[in-house]
Amino acid sequence: MNPPKKEEHKDPTANNGSVNGMPITSTFGKTKTKKVFIETYGCQMNLADSETMGGLLAEDGYQSAESMEDADIILINTCAVREKAEERVFGRLTHLQPLKKKNPDLVLGITGCMAEHLREKIAERAPDVDIIVGPDAYRRLPDLLGDKSSGKNMDALIDVKLDKAETYEGIPVKRRPGITSHISVQRGCDKFCTFCIVPFTRGRERGVSPEEVLKQAHQSVALGFKELMLLGQTVNSYTHHDENGKLTDFSDLLNMLVEIEGIERIRFTSPYPTDFNAKLIATMASHKKICKYLHLPAQSGSNRMLGLMRRQYTREEFDTLVGDIRTAMPNIAMSTDIIVGYPGESEDDFEATVDLLKTTRFDFGYLFKYSERSQTFAARNVEDDIPEALKKARLKKIIEVQEAICGEVFPAMIGQTVEVLVERDSKRNARQWVGKTDGFKACVFDKKDNGVGPGSLVKVLVKNATSHTLIGEQI
Ligand code: 5AD
Repeated sequence: MNPPKKEEHKDPTANNGSVNGMPITSTFGKTKTKKVFIETYGCQMNLADSETMGGLLAEDGYQSAESMEDADIILINTCAVREKAEERVFGRLTHLQPLKKKNPDLVLGITGCMAEHLREKIAERAPDVDIIVGPDAYRRLPDLLGDKSSGKNMDALIDVKLDKAETYEGIPVKRRPGITSHISVQRGCDKFCTFCIVPFTRGRERGVSPEEVLKQAHQSVALGFKELMLLGQTVNSYTHHDENGKLTDFSDLLNMLVEIEGIERIRFTSPYPTDFNAKLIATMASHKKICKYLHLPAQSGSNRMLGLMRRQYTREEFDTLVGDIRTAMPNIAMSTDIIVGYPGESEDDFEATVDLLKTTRFDFGYLFKYSERSQTFAARNVEDDIPEALKKARLKKIIEVQEAICGEVFPAMIGQTVEVLVERDSKRNARQWVGKTDGFKACVFDKKDNGVGPGSLVKVLVKNATSHTLIGEQI
């Protein structure tokens, strides 16, 4: 039921362990012989951040490594949203020990949210780690790497200073080749949901200037990207004021981006429910290029839990919003995030969430067990009192509920014609293409000798479906 890229009900923070040997070649004349490899875990914003780091390092003359074995510097860009995500990185570090033994000069860095969250604790648990760099300190990466490589400092270098003005403007981002260009339009988060570590790891919310977003969008088109994925923790709360005080809101930003020729589709993630307004719904509805798909995190269907989590809406308000969105865009696809086992969750609260899934009928769901994160309001003030076995049982139950819904929603599309943006060969069958529908559903179809390939936007008649994939025929 999960959209691709995030494997089925596995922790999506795994990002499929996606390894990106990014092309890092200097365009600025400085050349270094050192090669860097960046491995990314976590959300799409981490993917974008890795591309920013790649750009910064290329600017400083670093080369890209094809593999970890080939690298002088390995950076692991991490996630802290659940404990499992952090444990996975510690596991990865154990795995990398032999490389460090073989090459004592290898510089190993932890970047991103886990660096910000655990800081020196990382070096205590994983003494091989040389540098620890938080999400707002990437501009100083070249200096930190220089210091480390010079061998001056035996201890791990730590730079986790948050900077409420940092939006990484002006960096020549090194994008991984592909169909979708990820552009961070907003950094940080001001919502402070009680369970969530992001405000502590990524700092305060700030919008990237529209000029920078437009510049990155134009560069993406020039590089051959067809789709933009605009990223922000609560992306639809985006605002930016220029020096004359002129306000650009998220709808304004979308209205500017749709004008760019060569961009076939625009997506964004993740919106926050109460940051929707009529203008944004109308903007989405009025432009074909803006995909009719929304990932709308609900977290719970129980008003009591929503209150305890300090979400800023009630179940009724959430339902009304979904209704308004569906009225404006009847065929819109939707997904959500749910947390089960938040402290104090009763059987009735849990059933309210089951009811939310059953009544809303999301096209997919990202379903999680509550994981206590230090620093958050919940960790400081409430006991993590739902036994692990009960959390697991509740997770299993909602997975079954959502799975059953997916098992109806996907096959219900049989007979429809969908527009698919082709991404690549299907992993299962190289004689088939795979791409996404406007509604973010994976769709596979047989190749024909007709010039279609990655980046083509084609019409496909849906002939069959599993609960995760549409199977069609190009028409
Ligand atoms: N425990 C479990 N899930 C969490 N999420 C955020 N924080 C936690 C936590 N402490 C989930 C939320 C969020 C998604 C990105 O991760 O559902 O929307």
